Amino acid sequence: MASHGWWIRLLLLVVIIGSINVFRGNSRVVVDDDNTQRDTIDSNEKSLLQLRSHNQGQVVMDNGIVHVTLSSPGGEVIGISYNGMDNLLEGHNQITNRGYFDLVWNAAGDRTGTYDNVQGTRMRIIQQTNDILELSFTREWSDGSSEGMAPLNVDKRYVMMRNTSGFYTYVIVDRREGWPAFNLGAARVAFKLNMRNFRYMAVSDKRRRIMPTEMDRRRGEKLGYPEAVLLTNPSNRDLIGEVDDKYQYSVESQNDKVHGWISRNPSIGFWMITPSYEFRTGGPVKQDLTSHVGPTTLGVFMSDHYGGREVTTKFQDGESWKKVFGPVMIYVNSAPPSDNNSNDNLWKDANRQMEEEVQRWPYDFIQSEDYPGSSQRGTVSGQLNVRDRYVNIEDFGAKSAYVGLALPGEAGSWEKETKGYQFWTRADMNGRFVIKNVRPGLYNLYAWVPGFLGDYKYEGDVIIGLGSEINLGMLVFTPPRQGPTLWEIGIPDRSAAEFYVPKPNPMYVNKVLLDSYEDRFRQYGLWERYADIYGIEDPVYTVGVSNYSTDWFYAHVTRKNGDSSYSPTTRQIKFELDQLDYMGMYTLQGALAASTGAQLIFQVNDHNPFRPRLATTAGGTDNAIARHGIHGLYHLFSVQVPGYILRQGSNTIYVTQPRAMGAFEGLMYDYIRLEGPSRAV
Ligand SMILES: *[C@@H]1O[C@H](CO)[C@@H](O)[C@H](O)[C@H]1NC(C)=O
Ligand SMILES: *[C@@H]1O[C@H](CO)[C@@H](O)[C@H](O)[C@H]1NC(C)=O
Ligand SMILES: *[C@@H]1O[C@H](CO)[C@@H](O)[C@H](O)[C@H]1NC(C)=O
Repeated sequence: MASHGWWIRLLLLVVIIGSINVFRGNSRVVVDDDNTQRDTIDSNEKSLLQLRSHNQGQVVMDNGIVHVTLSSPGGEVIGISYNGMDNLLEGHNQITNRGYFDLVWNAAGDRTGTYDNVQGTRMRIIQQTNDILELSFTREWSDGSSEGMAPLNVDKRYVMMRNTSGFYTYVIVDRREGWPAFNLGAARVAFKLNMRNFRYMAVSDKRRRIMPTEMDRRRGEKLGYPEAVLLTNPSNRDLIGEVDDKYQYSVESQNDKVHGWISRNPSIGFWMITPSYEFRTGGPVKQDLTSHVGPTTLGVFMSDHYGGREVTTKFQDGESWKKVFGPVMIYVNSAPPSDNNSNDNLWKDANRQMEEEVQRWPYDFIQSEDYPGSSQRGTVSGQLNVRDRYVNIEDFGAKSAYVGLALPGEAGSWEKETKGYQFWTRADMNGRFVIKNVRPGLYNLYAWVPGFLGDYKYEGDVIIGLGSEINLGMLVFTPPRQGPTLWEIGIPDRSAAEFYVPKPNPMYVNKVLLDSYEDRFRQYGLWERYADIYGIEDPVYTVGVSNYSTDWFYAHVTRKNGDSSYSPTTRQIKFELDQLDYMGMYTLQGALAASTGAQLIFQVNDHNPFRPRLATTAGGTDNAIARHGIHGLYHLFSVQVPGYILRQGSNTIYVTQPRAMGAFEGLMYDYIRLEGPSRAV
């Protein structure tokens, strides 16, 4: 033990329905391309799917329901015509800015991102039958002649099927051995919809509304950062005084299965359906953008949102890599003018279609050796138990545990894992789990259990071959614990949602969030509410009296001073110890749900800043406070508190976040617990 008489140890473990018309005309997919496929086209004239070409540089996929025009060989979606609307996409935009796949990347060591809009240089027909049409648009990277391109080969695929109200897209990216190092910050598909018609957006049951326009945003007042705008002069007067910020419409991967926009006159829905997040980075609770003002609909495949630099995908010099992003489905639906409830009905129908796509996953119609079908995928099952003698003498089932496979790494590493595929499920009431449709490969099995601290990792590798069925049997997770719980604040579930989330400043409200308890943390400016509510006195939390739902501000934020400087804030936790084990070792055990440029300091019974301090955890760039996330990355901590610095009777722990350069340094708590010295149980 250090000579100070106390010491600390902090582990930072970075850690469509009746009223909806779906055209049932003759489905035809027509592929027509000037130079390549005239004969194929003719032979398929009677086929139900058509591929044809109007102009030089364009191909059209048409199944009689939707008519999709693509640039060729660029491979961008230029037009989608459906149900009498000429183009669901914004025809005034450049053809490279309507429906496209793009990347943001930077050379290793270079901090500024380069935008790569991935122009195809070659178009190929992958499959063309009466039932399906699949097109490929590729671009190849080569050293010395690919200025501005991320060192990746890209194969953009579009798939159209007979009798389907929409189409599918997926992207295969790969890089070969010997290619230069680089960082990949984002990869996504984006659709810019017709601005006149698409006014209503839906990203979840609760977050559905009439949206402002891009022009409304330009005429508005920028708030703390450019993405947040106060609508001071919107064309729709109902929206005056509201805040718009695309980050208010973020969704966790596990819930991000369908979102999009609805047009009026005619009532048409445009939906991004993501049946599986196996190809997304960072696991089930990774948050990302969905749809936002533009009107824009995104299919985000990877990004560093809500994770920061730690989740940027970094490739070493020479490192090879291949990945299939998607497929995702672009689904369109429509309602007749007589439908008084078309927004609800189209949203419900989009959800019905989403469920259907989820059931069909993995798709059997994809023609790529890089996308294994269901017969090639494996299954992993087992039973996860929790061992925590201070909770129950016997092991007990890890109820509703998140259990997943990801590339090998440390326990919890899946959260920052960005190169492989991840496969997650929820265990049942008793901890039993089955993970289906796993691509062949080498994995580790990870888990966490809502209600318990920490991360589980199965000790062995899990190797999935073609059609493997692996039963891992009984697994035991021992969450971090040194002794009995003396008191606890919050629920260990990797989120700060159970804490006190203030009402927004009435000046900065997004009304759609007002009626949704589970979305209340997405309001703009909640970080400033701290100083409004507590004045200059930071809050004191009294164990046994205070209630974490109302008395523990969800984020540990800075305080803005009159001169626009910022000050650190210190909370106090007051508690009584009836008995003190003077020689025993107590433990402050817990986790942060987010951290941005932050540090965490505990001082026991002495707040003199010159006295030694009990903890330090630093860093983070997840930016969850500014982006209205209720969590960013997870950080476990464990701080030893020797009995002799505690007192029999009243004690106070001072909790400080000392960094205060601006408004957004800070952290979010997941959970804090004081444990007594270990004892036989
Ligand atoms: C076309 O799709 C509709 C709706 O999914 C279905 O009811 C119908 O049976 C399909 N028709 C054919 C020919 O597959
Ligand atoms: C829709 O609204 C109109 C006008 O309010 C009403 O006359 C009509 O009966 C409504 N239709 C349905 C199906 O509710
Ligand atoms: C804490 O406050 C919440 C919200 O007001 C309330 O529902 C809950 O019952 C309170 N808990 C206790 C232990 O009083």
